[in-house]
Amino acid sequence: MRVTMIGAGYVGLVSGACFADFGHDVTCVDKDPAKIEALKAGQIPIFEPGLAELVANNVRTGRLFFDTDLTEAVRSADAVFIAVGTPSRRGDGHADLSYVHQAAREIAAAIDGYTVIVTKSTVPVGTGDAVEAIIREVRPDADFAVVSNPEFLREGAAISDFKRPDRIVVGTEDERAAEVMRALYRPLYLNQSPLIVTNRRTAELIKYAANAFLATKITFINEIADLCEKVGANVQEVARGIGLDNRIGGKFLHAGPGYGGSCFPKDTMALVKIAQDADSPVRIVETVSAVNEVRKRAMGRKVIAACGGNVSGKTIAVLGLTFKPNTDDMREAPSIAVIRTLQDAGAAIRAYDPEGIDQARLVLDDVTYTKDAYSAIDGADALVIVTEWDAFRALDLDRVKALLRQPVMVDLRNIYPPNDLLRRGFTYISIGRPQELYEEEGA
Ligand code: UDX
Repeated sequence: MRVTMIGAGYVGLVSGACFADFGHDVTCVDKDPAKIEALKAGQIPIFEPGLAELVANNVRTGRLFFDTDLTEAVRSADAVFIAVGTPSRRGDGHADLSYVHQAAREIAAAIDGYTVIVTKSTVPVGTGDAVEAIIREVRPDADFAVVSNPEFLREGAAISDFKRPDRIVVGTEDERAAEVMRALYRPLYLNQSPLIVTNRRTAELIKYAANAFLATKITFINEIADLCEKVGANVQEVARGIGLDNRIGGKFLHAGPGYGGSCFPKDTMALVKIAQDADSPVRIVETVSAVNEVRKRAMGRKVIAACGGNVSGKTIAVLGLTFKPNTDDMREAPSIAVIRTLQDAGAAIRAYDPEGIDQARLVLDDVTYTKDAYSAIDGADALVIVTEWDAFRALDLDRVKALLRQPVMVDLRNIYPPNDLLRRGFTYISIGRPQELYEEEGA
């Protein structure tokens, strides 16, 4: 099959490289000439484990191409994926669809023969209809179908998520288009990944409902964690105790500083707007979004409290800046609100992140970035772990204690056992877990 991917951003690049790896002929198109030149030279503009090798292999075997002009690639394509950005529109929280509409116009002008146009970007319910109307208007004669095929890729695990998905969702009522989609994904559903074919609006809503549900799960456990602190319970054990119920499931029940990233905050907001416009508000999701926003700054105040209520003139070491590990993505990262809250209270920040420092510099100035974790900790009054990179899971705690002016550690990801740190003489504050020595099972 011949596939054209419009937009060589995160989703487009991962999906394009994976389709090429399945044996399809793929061209990734992007308007940014610098990006396309870099890709042709083997440089990957984003940090995603395994992606550079996957792109290089498929370029070498002649299945993956890059171009700035979509005309040729669209003309010969069986399927054209729209994987352009849909940022939150400034001011009203609606998704900004101008890139999607523009792509639809350009695709329309170029299609030749039956072509399946696939929206892969996360788009509000009804966008497929709008794309279809645009193409029909530009090219009344064209033979095409518009399909919704949302992605469920997690940053840092995008390639394995693409190749071993829990499910593939295809929204179309056109049987011929469904066949094209089945052929594209055949290697996957031969591997037992279920492929659901449903109508287009349902597929569009599945994406938002999935992300909103996951965001709700996280926010739920975060509030339970706060309650645990007040009543002397342990949130990790609550999560395990409820997660073993199959109806609940144990995943996405890690309490932390609040969700961030390019998807959850934007998609929950967009669903809230879609639902308000349809006069069918999703009040749970409205609350989730509001609670999560407030939480990020509350985490900064938690650090201040751990420092005795005052950080003015103190130095705080921050480990982990990206919104989660294994990415360089700083979008909506909780570290931003935590650091700003501390700075507003008069603290100086020394920070380290394995991959995120370049991106962090763009949003957080007035921070001293260090070359490793220990240099950030050296001479600080307290240490805060904001993102659970593996590199922070086995710090040399004796060294950490010796380097800190005060042995204060705030672990916003619960990566250390409280008793271990408390016995070593740390003031150790985590999320929803004991802050004083407690009896361990079997001890
Ligand atoms: C998410 C969805 O998982 C993916 O299916 C969708 O297509 C895009 O959005 P991503 O944004 O890459 O993917 O990150 P994810 O791993 O889901 O984490 C999102 C945020 O939630 C992170 O800030 C993470 O730290 C936080 N999180 C996740 C928790 O705080 N607790 C959890 O238990 C899980």
